Amino acid sequence: MSITVAKSAGFCFGVTRAVDLVYRLLDEGKKVCTLGPIIHNDHVVKDLEARGVCIAGSVDDVPDGYMVVIRSHGVGRPVYEAIEKRGLHFADATCPFVAKIHHIVAERSGMGEVILIAGDENHPEVQGVRGHCRGKSYVFRDAGQLEELVKSHPEFGEKGISIVAQTTFSLKEWKKCLEGAKKVYTNAVIFDTICNATGTRQMEAEQLAAQSDLMIIVGGRQSSNTEKLRSVCAAHCETVLIEEASELPVKQVRRAGSIGVTAGASTPASIIKEVLQAMSEIVNNEMEKQEPVEQEAP
Ligand code: F3S
Repeated sequence: MSITVAKSAGFCFGVTRAVDLVYRLLDEGKKVCTLGPIIHNDHVVKDLEARGVCIAGSVDDVPDGYMVVIRSHGVGRPVYEAIEKRGLHFADATCPFVAKIHHIVAERSGMGEVILIAGDENHPEVQGVRGHCRGKSYVFRDAGQLEELVKSHPEFGEKGISIVAQTTFSLKEWKKCLEGAKKVYTNAVIFDTICNATGTRQMEAEQLAAQSDLMIIVGGRQSSNTEKLRSVCAAHCETVLIEEASELPVKQVRRAGSIGVTAGASTPASIIKEVLQAMSEIVNNEMEKQEPVEQEAP
């Protein structure tokens, strides 16, 4: 039995930066309110709540006297305007990779181009990106949806289009989408905005899954990058997504000859450690059971 942990498992640079920022503000004695949970991880969110951090669904819900923290997903321009209108202090933890997309779409849409975004239209990052577009923007989930979009909007060609991707979009699907788009629009301007951390994590997870019997993905079920890891790995081997050690699939772990482990960008190192600890306990118990029982000579 072998257990291999992906090197890229766990907190990415943008998440570390956002979480550290909140703890630093608390240490400075600030009253902090995040716009949505700072990350998709209950343990971290509960710890912050225990230290007095409140979570607001919108700027209107932020209590007076609290400092607003914009999380790594970023927000659209209307949210900055609402913060300014209320005169609230804020700290911006928008990941620089996301902020780069905001600049691109603001500039290109300002030039009159249509913005096409590969991603999930309900994801806060995508909503934030759309909130920086100065004209029309459209979201597509995969190559099929992009094709539909192109067919139903012949006017795209005249206006010129720019294509960006949600930072956690699937690398494989992105390549497929671009192949399709290039066939139709020779003049499409394409910005490769999938972040390095996501790309590396997905590639490493896929390689690990290809040589494992079982992949354990540790991360929040609400987390987009964790779900992408699950689907990338599921194409190669049995794959289970868990949020914490207690959800480990004991039977599958016992049966597997080789197990790969990776984790989403919002998973703290402490949870990965607990999962590995629980996994080695399951494996050791199993090995003890298989030890031949010594029998006394007749
Ligand atoms: Fe930023 Fe990429 Fe993490 S966009 S928040 S470094 S997954």
